[in-house]
Amino acid sequence: MNSKNSVVYQIYVKSFCDSNGDGIGDLNGIRSKLPYLKSLGVDYIWVTPFYPSPMFDNGYDVADYCAVNPLFGTMADCEAMIDEANRLGIGFMFDMVFNHTSWDHEWFRKALTGDPEYMDYYIFRDGVNGGPPLDWTSSFGTPAWEYVPALDKWYLHLFDKSQPDLNWENPKVREGLKNVIRFWKGKGVKGFRFDVFNLISKPEHLEQCGSGRGINYCKDGPRIHEFIRELVTDTGIDGMVTVGEMSSTTLENCIRYSNPANRELSMCFNFHHLKVDYKNGDKWTLMEPDWNALGQLFREWQEEMSKQGGWSAAFWCNHDQPRIVSRFGDEGAYWKQSAKMLGTFIHLLRGTPYIYQGEEIGMTNAHFTSIEQYNDVESVNYYKILLERGVSAADALEVLRQRSRDNARTPMQWNAQRNAGFTDGAPWLEVPDNYRSINVETEESDPDSILNYYRELVRLRKELPVIADGEIRFLQTGDKRVFAYERALGRQRLTVVCNFSGDERNASFADAPGAESGTVLLANGPKDQIERLQNGVLKLRPYEAFAILRE
Ligand code: GLC
Ligand code: CA
Repeated sequence: MNSKNSVVYQIYVKSFCDSNGDGIGDLNGIRSKLPYLKSLGVDYIWVTPFYPSPMFDNGYDVADYCAVNPLFGTMADCEAMIDEANRLGIGFMFDMVFNHTSWDHEWFRKALTGDPEYMDYYIFRDGVNGGPPLDWTSSFGTPAWEYVPALDKWYLHLFDKSQPDLNWENPKVREGLKNVIRFWKGKGVKGFRFDVFNLISKPEHLEQCGSGRGINYCKDGPRIHEFIRELVTDTGIDGMVTVGEMSSTTLENCIRYSNPANRELSMCFNFHHLKVDYKNGDKWTLMEPDWNALGQLFREWQEEMSKQGGWSAAFWCNHDQPRIVSRFGDEGAYWKQSAKMLGTFIHLLRGTPYIYQGEEIGMTNAHFTSIEQYNDVESVNYYKILLERGVSAADALEVLRQRSRDNARTPMQWNAQRNAGFTDGAPWLEVPDNYRSINVETEESDPDSILNYYRELVRLRKELPVIADGEIRFLQTGDKRVFAYERALGRQRLTVVCNFSGDERNASFADAPGAESGTVLLANGPKDQIERLQNGVLKLRPYEAFAILRE
């Protein structure tokens, strides 16, 4: 990747801005908001899939990779959107869903007719004893193999049954997907995000795998590095910004994926830090975050990536995660402080920060009270599964209120008018009530807002090489809810301290003498009120965050 001082903004197209009143965000809506994104200072926009799709998984089930879903606009709208952004110096990153297609994709339709050439684009197997070839579950809780009576065969889908997995062993599949990249590159797109990319290389002896969640057997498969390198080098995108979504991956693999010497990707998303509140690894069982684990994970990944030449995507939020202020912050009394603290922590790390739409204004979870309000396939499936497990309806709803992907998918809150200014029609997903106070327009006019704080975070990364290029070392603070790290470049040192709790905390910096001396670069409260170390103890206010620079 060209520059380490870049910041990426993620748009979930369906919920960003509706230009024609049908209640669904669209490409012209995105174009109309480019000046806003320019004012945020972001360099790239990752936009989620807007291609033709039956929308079982809101567009992550792609029926045609090189066209625009009429729901979202036309190819001309898309070109205008790309060109306009390029003029403003913002590059689009398009979302490549290459682990699977939709069952409406031409390749799969041909496969279903029994055409052997196209059946080999997917993973078809014979059943065993009248059942599926393997006892695997999909990531959405359903069985991972679907029977096709006309063919008397089963096909693999690690996600919804409408998302059949592609067979990457077949060179024609790889060539077909390279053409997709070439197509969008030709339209002026500046980078790519690859959906569940580390699942594409399936185990060599698939039939011999055990039972359980299918993705556990497919992550970081035997040919994964080879497949990625081939795709990237053959399409000439190794100079562009590329990010792979890596499911349950390892640190070692992420270093390989992102070390420029390997010519694979610019960086990876990994999700270990967003599982510290999953009880026994189960997203659908609530638990308080394990703060020790969170601190450990950041320390280990950040420091090792730094030492071994890897590069991270730094993020809390995306369209699959609950809102971070509702999750690791406090959306009540400390809404503003905690949102700013969480932003500080991510943006000053070593890696490329991602801002997910609405994060920059402190948008919260959806607060839905009835199952009818949910849309997401995963949420709807797991609600049923929870009831089957014997969980009460009220408890199951509480789980969704905290864990559903719809928490992130509610419409962007632009202003205090009807539907938060997202649409003139009826929004496809309800707008949370708090849009009257939490919205872009209100925050624009408040110098102390979360929005203006994010602007400063983005600006600082461009101004200070120590943020973009510095090494990183985590500091011992003596408190599991106080995280601190030091960035270093030449003689410059930047110390970042974040209190991840709603209490006053005392921190100490035994392994970093002088870490808190220097000038206050940034703080989420009054800069002149930051207390200094006294007798080896630093007093922190609830959710306090600051960064101190010294030369
Ligand atoms: C990724 C996407 C998610 C989608 C899944 C299947 O995890 O982010 O939204 O459901 O892949 O494509
Ligand atoms: Ca629309």
